[in-house]
Amino acid sequence: MKTRVTRAFSSVAALTAAGLVLTACGSSGDGGSEQTGPASFEGRGPITYVAAKDTTGTVQPVIDRWNKLHPDEKVTFIQLPTDADSQRQQMIQNAETKSDAYTVLSLDVVWTSEFAAHRWIDRLPEKEFPLQKMLKPVMETAKYRDGLYAVPASSDGGMLYYRSDLLKKAGVAGPPKTWAELKDACAKVRKLPEGKGMSCYAGQFQKYEGLTVNFAEAVHSAGGVVTDANGTPDVDTPAARKGLDFLTGSFRDGTIAKEAITYQEEDSRQAFQSGRLIFLRNWPYVYSLAQKSKVAGKFEVAPLPGLNGPGASSLGGHNLALSSFAKNKATALDFMKFFTSEQIAKHFLQDASLAPPYARLYDDPALVKQYPYLPVLKQSVLRAVPRPRVVQYGDVTSAIQREAYAALNGGKSSAQALTDLQKDLQKVMGR
Ligand code: GLC
Repeated sequence: MKTRVTRAFSSVAALTAAGLVLTACGSSGDGGSEQTGPASFEGRGPITYVAAKDTTGTVQPVIDRWNKLHPDEKVTFIQLPTDADSQRQQMIQNAETKSDAYTVLSLDVVWTSEFAAHRWIDRLPEKEFPLQKMLKPVMETAKYRDGLYAVPASSDGGMLYYRSDLLKKAGVAGPPKTWAELKDACAKVRKLPEGKGMSCYAGQFQKYEGLTVNFAEAVHSAGGVVTDANGTPDVDTPAARKGLDFLTGSFRDGTIAKEAITYQEEDSRQAFQSGRLIFLRNWPYVYSLAQKSKVAGKFEVAPLPGLNGPGASSLGGHNLALSSFAKNKATALDFMKFFTSEQIAKHFLQDASLAPPYARLYDDPALVKQYPYLPVLKQSVLRAVPRPRVVQYGDVTSAIQREAYAALNGGKSSAQALTDLQKDLQKVMGR
């Protein structure tokens, strides 16, 4: 691996020696501002990499590898809280004070437009990254207008983790494709002595970005939309209501564990790993961690279920972006190439079961043999629905979180929450 990384780096070094000065330009529209004029990627020296707390333990060793090869251009890993909203807040605070403390940012795929429009991140040179090898919907998340402002590092698609051992024992033929089948399977498993006291299902329903993800998945899995094909809010519909009703009804009838109203990804992972859940909606990173837990060998993954057939995940993931206010941008660009390279994506897949942006890794027979969840993951990512791609994403997600939470808590009916949400979104998005 060391030699491969070194080789990857000799080409990067050659590029840098040739003097990489880039021109950024863009066009304006929808309230965002454009980035024009030359952005130069100059300066070499220490930088920082800022991302969510690494629950998989695989990031620092990769950075160590870089640091060994680049003693004068060391990367310090700054870990932010695990929840997306706190990460966004800290990154924005840093940008608003024009601080150079953060160099390379691991941006949630939903923040690209907001960060680019505010000029908190630099436009990047497309030809320097192997974008054509990446899954198209994943690559699109890194763009704002026509420009590239980030580079996909890992994708994310929601999957249904299920206790295959218990389903089998209860005589359930396979994973549920619909919500009705899911409830049915739980009823059967709960009749087993081992299934007694287990909760049926959990996702992430605390009031944070994960709730936006889970809400959108329920709406899309019932045939509704949050915004239509033109990006116009269209959430006050019977189909969207069926989606939200699935969540509210499931909380009421005990299909969803009561505690799940406080769950983020990690809480729900712990619940599944400790054997308290039959079904869990979560991201691919859970796969490798759960394989090392008490439920190792007792679970499998399937596509998310929906109202009348398979459901649709929200498209998640993280892209690397370069803070406009950072120093040592030549080093930063090299590090971004390294960290988003196919070899590193493969490493993160093998070590932490993260979804790679690179298409061919999903079809690699050796990898599929080793990781049987890959075909399900690929399907999940390719069929995933992006969350609204707007500059005002912070306001959009706050509105969704507020209204979805009010419905789940019983404070508002689903119908009222969706009517209010539609109005809020129209106001925030100006359409
Ligand atoms: C994961 C996804 C990200 C999403 C977040 C929500 O980190 O990759 O896109 O916003 O979960 O909690």
